Order: sequence, then structure tokens, then C-alpha cells
Amino acid sequence: MGNSGRFITFEGIDGAGKSTQVDALAQLFRGVGRTVLVTREPGGTALAEKIRKLVLHDAMDPLTEALLVFAARRDHLVQLIEPALARGDVVLCDRFTDSSFAYQGGGRGLDLAVLSMLEQWVQGGQAPAGGPMRQPDLTLWFDLSPAQAARRLAAAREPDKFEAQNEAFFARVAQGFLRRVEAHPQRFFRLDADRERALVWADVEAAVRSRGWLE
Ligand code: TYD
Repeated sequence: MGNSGRFITFEGIDGAGKSTQVDALAQLFRGVGRTVLVTREPGGTALAEKIRKLVLHDAMDPLTEALLVFAARRDHLVQLIEPALARGDVVLCDRFTDSSFAYQGGGRGLDLAVLSMLEQWVQGGQAPAGGPMRQPDLTLWFDLSPAQAARRLAAAREPDKFEAQNEAFFARVAQGFLRRVEAHPQRFFRLDADRERALVWADVEAAVRSRGWLE
């Protein structure tokens, strides 16, 4: 069991501090001899990284944005994620489809039924089509209040299109994540991200260890 492919995603509003925890978890898995792919969305492949630049910096309507993030996701899944899981590797992905439901759905108000359809198309059976939908085995949800996130972002570097949004936008994004957690409770592990990094890390490690994935 310990050696099968694992797909772990990291989610939360901007400023929640996911990135350093992704790297730390990669180190932990490598330390027990696992091959780890660290990747992110939108992005991960050359094509998807080009799409990322458009999505993060160009103004567009919410449906265009959703179509682009799912196009990037499709390329990422087909080229990188599915082959890695088939080899039995651990895939750590900074954001995945829950972010589309939170940002395009919650933040920008796109119809969730449209997002569900895109999710089915993009994640439904890679080859042959029509197989079970690909979903993460575990999603670490970095839960941070929109007010706290806004304070952290104000102190951060040059904001991208999303980071420059106001607190009301982040409140809708946070609501969007909450709806996904309620819809898929077994896949999510909630982390209180309003604590110092070492305490958050202890919970990340415990979430993975308790599943027997480090043996
Ligand atoms: P993020 O991954 O947080 O990168 P960085 O830390 O370098 O800013 O930023 C990606 C942004 O893209 C983030 O604001 C959320 C947004 N996003 C969407 O709107 N929809 C999606 O489906 C994904 C994956 C991300």
C-alpha cells in the first residue's frame, strides 16, 4: 500500500502559506525513498505555464478564465500527473480543481454547474475516456480568515490579478472552498493556517503519516 501513487493537493486563499509546506512534504517523502513530483496549477507543463501567465495577468470574463484553467489542467494531467501516478510516484500539487470552484465559482460568481461539467470532461477517465474521475487522494486545506490573508498579502511582493482583489473577493473565495469541503469531507484535511509555520507543518506531517503513506 505504501508504494502506490499518491495525489496530494494544497488549497487555500492567497497568503495562507502553502508553498513552503509543499517543499517540506516533498523532502519528507524523499527521505523515505519515494519519488516525488512537485508541481502547481495553473501550470506544471510548458503549455500550462503559458496559460498561467494569461490567467494571472490579463483581464477576461469568468468563463474564459475557467476554460483556460481547465485547458491548462488537462495538459498537466495528461502530460505529467497521470504518468507520474501510473509509475507509483507521489504528486504534490500546489492548487487544483478546488481552486477553480473557489476563485472562478466563489470569487467570480461563475455557475458551479459549468465548473462541474468541466471537471467531468477534464478529469474523467484519461484513457480510455469515460473512466472514473481523477480526484486527489488527499487535499490539505490551509484555512485562513480573509482578513488575515489580506494582512499577509499587503506585506507581500507585487500582487498578481487575484492577489490584488479586495477582502470581499477573498471572503467569497473562502466560501467557495468551504462548499467543496462540505461536498467532499473525506478527501479534505483542514489546517488552521493562522499559526506559526512549524505548528502547521506538524499537522501536515500527521495527516500524511496517519494514512500510512510514509511507511
Ligand atoms: P498561487 O498558486 O497562489 O501562486 P503564487 O503563490 O505564486 O501567487 O497563485 C495562483 C493564482 O491562481 C491564485 O490566486 C489562485 C488562482 N487560481 C484560479 O483562479 N483558478 C484555478 O483553478 C487555480 C488553480 C488557481
